[in-house]
Amino acid sequence: MKLKNFLLAAVAALFTLQTQADEGMWLLQLMQQQHSIDLMKKQGLKLEAEDIYNPNGVSLKDAVGIFGGGCTGEIISPDGLVLTNHHCGYSAIQRHSSVEHDYLTDGFWAMRLEDELPNERLSFSFVHSIIDVTDVVNEDIKSGKTTEVNAMTRTYLNELAQRLMAQSELNGKSGIRAQVYPFYAGNSFYLIYYKVYPDVRMVAAPPSSIGKFGGETDNWMWPRHTCDFSVFRIYADKNGEPAPYSADNVPLKTPKYLNISLKGLNENDYAMILGFPGSTSRYLTASEVRERMETTNQAEIDVRGVRLEVLREKMAASDKTRIQYANKFAGSSNYWKNSIGMNEAIIKNKVLETKAEQERQFNLFAKGKPEYEGVVDRINAAVEKSIPVERQLDYLTESFYSAIEFRTPVDLMDQLKEAIKNKDNVAIEGAKNELRQVFDQIHNKDYDHEVDRAVAKAILPAMAEFLTLPELPDFYQTVTDFDAYVDNIYNNSILANSTNLEKFLKKPTIKAIDKDPSLAYMRSVQDCMYKTIDAYTGQDDLTLEHKAYIRGLNEMKNAPAYSDANFTMRLTYGNVKSYEPRDAVKYKYYTTADGVLEKEDPTNPEFVVPAKLKELIQKRDFGRYAMADGSLPACFLTTNDITGGNSGSPVMDAEGNLIGIAFDGNWESLSGDINFDDNLQRCIAVDIRYVLFVIDKLGNCQRLINEMKIID
Ligand code: ARG
Repeated sequence: MKLKNFLLAAVAALFTLQTQADEGMWLLQLMQQQHSIDLMKKQGLKLEAEDIYNPNGVSLKDAVGIFGGGCTGEIISPDGLVLTNHHCGYSAIQRHSSVEHDYLTDGFWAMRLEDELPNERLSFSFVHSIIDVTDVVNEDIKSGKTTEVNAMTRTYLNELAQRLMAQSELNGKSGIRAQVYPFYAGNSFYLIYYKVYPDVRMVAAPPSSIGKFGGETDNWMWPRHTCDFSVFRIYADKNGEPAPYSADNVPLKTPKYLNISLKGLNENDYAMILGFPGSTSRYLTASEVRERMETTNQAEIDVRGVRLEVLREKMAASDKTRIQYANKFAGSSNYWKNSIGMNEAIIKNKVLETKAEQERQFNLFAKGKPEYEGVVDRINAAVEKSIPVERQLDYLTESFYSAIEFRTPVDLMDQLKEAIKNKDNVAIEGAKNELRQVFDQIHNKDYDHEVDRAVAKAILPAMAEFLTLPELPDFYQTVTDFDAYVDNIYNNSILANSTNLEKFLKKPTIKAIDKDPSLAYMRSVQDCMYKTIDAYTGQDDLTLEHKAYIRGLNEMKNAPAYSDANFTMRLTYGNVKSYEPRDAVKYKYYTTADGVLEKEDPTNPEFVVPAKLKELIQKRDFGRYAMADGSLPACFLTTNDITGGNSGSPVMDAEGNLIGIAFDGNWESLSGDINFDDNLQRCIAVDIRYVLFVIDKLGNCQRLINEMKIID
């Protein structure tokens, strides 16, 4: 179908929704076309479309960007001050931490500009411009440059982005990055230019006892009392252009920043969020939902469960390990718990039934339309074939490419072998250098070979339970003593320690490579995966059928007209709102600092309250950040439609003022990435007043408060 028809259908679909349904991650560039702006105004928005997104001028979207690789951040001062979540700044905070300077435990406050700490591998990306390139892609398909399936692959999309950038006036401009994304399962495509600033410095972070209060226990849960924020600053060269870290760089002058409102909120107040939701799958068939449950989710639950248990024990036993593995543990645990919650919620919220009903309607609509007839049946048949394959691959990747970190690169070792065989000294030296780099990458500051050995010793036998023998790498056919097998790898392989490596590099031989236990193990894993992938055909069919299904759903006006999340900038609007998770229980839409003291448990590291915070709460010393009744707000709920990647996103009022930072979702709606439930799905945000209170009264960082524009 032509894009125009598609959009018309999308617009028509929109008008079948009630205004109160807050589902939808809307594209800024389609706000007018899709009339989301009209619905927003109806719900209370006081701004015009151009105030939010203006391709020819400065707008709200210029105050929001991608923080690091997977979070959102917002600008809150004319000098490039950035607010995001504590859990988004976590890896930076951890990297600066050691047993001597434990910023994870104690927090970090740069009292002067000079104290702000540079971070390797941390950038901030603004959306520069958005261009519809659907016609270009369709032309490429027509001319045979690509195919309908390949048009959705990274390789093609990257090539296209480079090709289009080469023709653009932006080509060669500093910090510009181009990326093409498929939307609506490949029914349309946009090219997005980003301006990426690679010098981002750490400015402030509360102690984890505040920024991560409630820890894993409260994660994905309401009621919540986590002050999940951290503060960074973007630096640029003297001309305000992106530049790698240099002592000469200066704070970036930002043309747009968010004003902060301390006015407070009431139930049903308008609330909107701009951010970068990573991934949703709102248009699956029931069979595809089942696939998600049995493959990705179950593999995460099982494999991560094994790893986390080992890490928990090792981290409790040593401060060094606790700091080294803090970020890995939180990241792994986050989606481990999410998968558990999602599988539960899919059943509880009858998502399979909802999807089945949607399919029934689709089948009625599809009758007599050759483009759509039989699509669902064909998806179901394809899914039947793919479930065992996906399941096997997900378990193998979760275990051998994620949980266990020690890995010898098979290709590199083969290259080296080849070079030795050919007596090609240049190639030998090249491979030796690469091997040294791999060694440094593996044995980095946050890696402990003994911890990893323990993880491997737990994972290998567990995998024998999760998969059948034919699904496992072939070493499972012969190995009986997993401990001895792992010890051999962790003691005797070339990359196991620097002694082994140096000994090998002094005189690299084919024999030594052939004997390497880690190489043999990785080759076995790799062969197993390749064999499965090679034997599997059908992915292409599924891609095309799925594309047709989504196009059809939009056409039949059954689903809202927004595209699944794909880590592009989206807007979601809704309201501040309480909810009723189960019979006889109703949750208020906000919590207060009093709840922090109610949850306090000095014997549980997740619920320790720092003495200073406790004192301020007990004295009710909240200054200008208190609510009318004298208490200090902590977190609040909205109906906004967010998911992972939105972490750190600004929650704004009807005028676009910052009122909170989004950081989580609630347990009862963890099926939300698959199906949005108006009654249950809530976004959890930390109230901006709690954040400023902590910066001001705990961190004594008034210099930051003074940079902001605060409306009392
Ligand atoms: N659930 C939150 C999210 O995905 C992350 C919370 C991080 N905190 C934690 N305790 N692991 O955005």
